[in-house]
Amino acid sequence: MQKRAIVENVFWMGALDWNRRLFDALIPLPDGTTYNAYLVRGSDKTALLDATDPSRADWLMAQLDDVPRLDYLVAHHAEQDHSGTIPQVLAKYPEARLIVSQKGKELLAAHLMVPEDRMDVVEDGATLSLGDLTLEFLYTPWVHWPETMCTYLREKEILFSCDLFGSHYTTTDLFAREREVVMEAAKRYYAEIMMPFRMVIRKNLEKVCVRPLKIIAPSHGPLYDQPGFILDAYKDWTSSAVKNEVVLMYVSMHGSTEAMARHLTAALAERQVRVRLFDLAVTDMGKLAMALVDAATLAVGMPTVLGGPHPAVAYAATLANALRPKLRFAAIFGSYGWTSQAVERLKELMPNLKLEFLEPVLCQGYPRPEQFSALDKLATTMAERHTRL
Ligand code: FEO
Repeated sequence: MQKRAIVENVFWMGALDWNRRLFDALIPLPDGTTYNAYLVRGSDKTALLDATDPSRADWLMAQLDDVPRLDYLVAHHAEQDHSGTIPQVLAKYPEARLIVSQKGKELLAAHLMVPEDRMDVVEDGATLSLGDLTLEFLYTPWVHWPETMCTYLREKEILFSCDLFGSHYTTTDLFAREREVVMEAAKRYYAEIMMPFRMVIRKNLEKVCVRPLKIIAPSHGPLYDQPGFILDAYKDWTSSAVKNEVVLMYVSMHGSTEAMARHLTAALAERQVRVRLFDLAVTDMGKLAMALVDAATLAVGMPTVLGGPHPAVAYAATLANALRPKLRFAAIFGSYGWTSQAVERLKELMPNLKLEFLEPVLCQGYPRPEQFSALDKLATTMAERHTRL
């Protein structure tokens, strides 16, 4: 695919990757992804913002065929899906300077062995004139890694936002048009990549939002020419507000925990609490991450295996701990055969989550009326806690 004009003298470049199904050997990509780079042609100088994933180097290099001179290559992020083709671009344009943040210089030297004498460090807020166009560099740490920065193109009011506001969604639409579909992909992306850094993202939002924004051009997914809806979504996701929702994740070996999960789900529904239920044996972890963005409470159902939580539950708890959602409460329920330390061991897997743990409900073997009553009481407690919020 050839470069595409966004506005006069500003072009989308990069690649679509419809078939990629996994990122970082961890994150499911049901809709593939895109690796966006951007070309800005000023009256005096030309800059390329980011390169592309090395698997799609041929796309970018073909798009550069009719670009005889490149003065600057801006590296917003050292992760390879942005930077992997930098060495090839620098080799094609020996005169080009690589523009990086201070931390970016260190990481690009470490990850891609970029020679230090090709790099120029810019400070937060620094500007670079291309003649009639001006690039302003904004340090936005942790919009995925510590070195990440964005670029604001002043005269066109375009924010090149790196991973921030991105979506792993492949489309030939240059701009986000299927708003609901893009929003779902953007929320999944936020949950998996941005949520661990929620408080820093809030500060970065304040920083970029003081500028007029006609277009937001992220590194993944379509661009936003009506940025209001993605900005509002980010303000909501990063806020402290939680919803009257319980994420109930469980796994069951012989039906006991499943019976408890079903009972608790029904009891919560009767009390007007929305439940998002995930059987971890068949769960898309991206969907689970998305549900964790807003929920007030996490309920975990597990059988005991070798004295501790079932490994599928331990994995999901480890992930939830790493993603640091804004949950307020948690509850653990489940079954065991003869003895269990599963509750204590599960809590130890979630030290990052500053949760109030409600009274656990455990049973030996299949649940009996007293355990179902305890689950009813647990549902009442959750509903009351949510109401207080
Ligand atoms: Fe798009 Fe952090 O990589």
